[in-house]
Amino acid sequence: MSGIVGYVGNRSSQEILIHGLKNLEYRGYDSAGIAVSNEKTIEVRREKGQIQDLEASLQLDPILKGNLGIGHTRWASHGTPSVTNSHPLSDTNGKYFVVHNGIIENYRELRKGLVADGVDFQTDTDTEVIPHLLAKYDTGNYLDTVRQVLPLLKGSFALAIMCSTYPNTIIAISQENPLIVGFGLKEGFLASDISALLPYTKEIYPIKNNEIAMLTSERITIETLDGEPIHPKKVLIEWDQEEIDLHEYDYFMLKEIMEQPKTIKKTLEGKIKNSHVRIAELEPLLNQYEFHHFEKIDIVGNGTSYHSGMVGKKVMEQLFRIPVEVHISSEFSNEHGHLSNRNLVIVLSQSGETADSLSALKEAKRNDCVTIAITNKKRSNIARIADYMLLTNAGPELAVAATKAYTSQITSLILLTIFLSQHSDKTNAYDYTELLDALVQLPDVVEQTLIMTQDAIDSFAQVTNDQDHLFLIGRGLDYVLALEGALKLQEVAYLHADAYAAGEVKHGTMALITPGVPVIALATQAHLRGKLVSNIRELKTREAFVVGVTTVGDDAVGEVVDQVLYIPEAHPYLMPIVAAIPLQLLAYYAGTVRGYNVDRPRNLAKSLTVE
Ligand code: AGP
Repeated sequence: MSGIVGYVGNRSSQEILIHGLKNLEYRGYDSAGIAVSNEKTIEVRREKGQIQDLEASLQLDPILKGNLGIGHTRWASHGTPSVTNSHPLSDTNGKYFVVHNGIIENYRELRKGLVADGVDFQTDTDTEVIPHLLAKYDTGNYLDTVRQVLPLLKGSFALAIMCSTYPNTIIAISQENPLIVGFGLKEGFLASDISALLPYTKEIYPIKNNEIAMLTSERITIETLDGEPIHPKKVLIEWDQEEIDLHEYDYFMLKEIMEQPKTIKKTLEGKIKNSHVRIAELEPLLNQYEFHHFEKIDIVGNGTSYHSGMVGKKVMEQLFRIPVEVHISSEFSNEHGHLSNRNLVIVLSQSGETADSLSALKEAKRNDCVTIAITNKKRSNIARIADYMLLTNAGPELAVAATKAYTSQITSLILLTIFLSQHSDKTNAYDYTELLDALVQLPDVVEQTLIMTQDAIDSFAQVTNDQDHLFLIGRGLDYVLALEGALKLQEVAYLHADAYAAGEVKHGTMALITPGVPVIALATQAHLRGKLVSNIRELKTREAFVVGVTTVGDDAVGEVVDQVLYIPEAHPYLMPIVAAIPLQLLAYYAGTVRGYNVDRPRNLAKSLTVE
């Protein structure tokens, strides 16, 4: 998703803006630009492509040096990636300069009105209506003009604005789209997320809805839209620079895969005591509601978060005697069953900013549901709007492909399941001892799996060699895992990987099984293995090339497949975490061996703040 940075202070802004944009690269983008002011004039430079292209352009043909500026990386949503469509965008007379993240939902009608006024639009973007509206409603006072225009804009958006007649001031707005102010020593910073601020400051303030931030070299002020001063409650960033450095890794994706023993331990920290799960941040939920108040659990998420939600559903419905449904967020927002205060809605989102999931959360709240956000970002919009929050504590995940987020989400969902069932008479009699012991040992099992998989990855990765199409199959939790494995291969290796419930292949897809076609069979659920072996045999009779992923000690699968990858055995509910490791590493190697930038896959973004 696009990224915004801003700087004002006693240093040259250009280097800080470029460095900040580089720290936001992981969000995904296809063009970049900056506007710099020397407090007399403002100059802009924009380039299609990577930030390096912008840097090269600035070296070849420098713009003015100034100590104030804004920058932007654009992930194209309206209008193709091009210099013309990249930000900052300005009005016809070059008075206002705007960078924007998110969507102006009513931009078509706004554009129509401006065209009727004679405005000559230069781009296909929704953003361009903003500088033209500022010019149209210009009162001569910068802040007042912004106040006039903001109520006209519908949608979720973050903006940073500069004005040629106020060259010492940046105005910033965050309307359900993250934008954070950073406080330095006589310096002010702006960024879409804290990874761009960490090199400069740990003191931040996330701008809230209906607030306006003004940054000048003298001070940073925050006001409400109506002009009420806000005294920003500064917060300290817990992350360290170390957590967002690449260290010896080539890509963040590999670093984050390898971190999973540590991040799962962090997710579990403080949650299991004396064979009991304690989740302090959710105690108020159970003080407010007895668990039997709920008649249904709905889990919503997108992409990998949807897949971890599917794992959560399967575990919860084993333990609870109420229906558990999992929804793709973008579907739930518009189509859902009956909702009421009796629904417990769990929103899964690593970034806490995914527009589809934010909409789903608002729809749940509109229907009086009780909502829990399971997220990695505690100051995100989804975390703020949900009634309760459970943090995954996986630390910053900078690769577009979710890996540690997935395993920490499943860990959190299992902790939540046990926590709720400890306080309920609506559960099947279930002895948690084994599951709790398995959770405690999980980081070590994941560590072991990383070692075993890395030793075997060369032969395992051959399943994708010279292939553009690939099938993954499984039963039960292995089917859900197959969906996640397919998504990883699509995302970072651009392979057309499809996942099927193993028993379903014969109902049509078998027509695509030709000699040599690669199939990964996930066989970690011992109680389903017998039927899975039969499904593998069906594939083998069509001469598919089948690689089995199964647990150490299982011979049944090894005897029927062409190749087998053994991983350690854990509790069946935890196997979607353990078996995710080889699939994550497979996608990583398949993508890198094809020469792709697995951290920033084409067309993708880390947080989709547009619906
Ligand atoms: C997963 O690898 C992708 N990056 C994507 O599917 C992601 O899971 C989805 O966009 C949801 O993001 P969120 O968890 O931040 O809401």
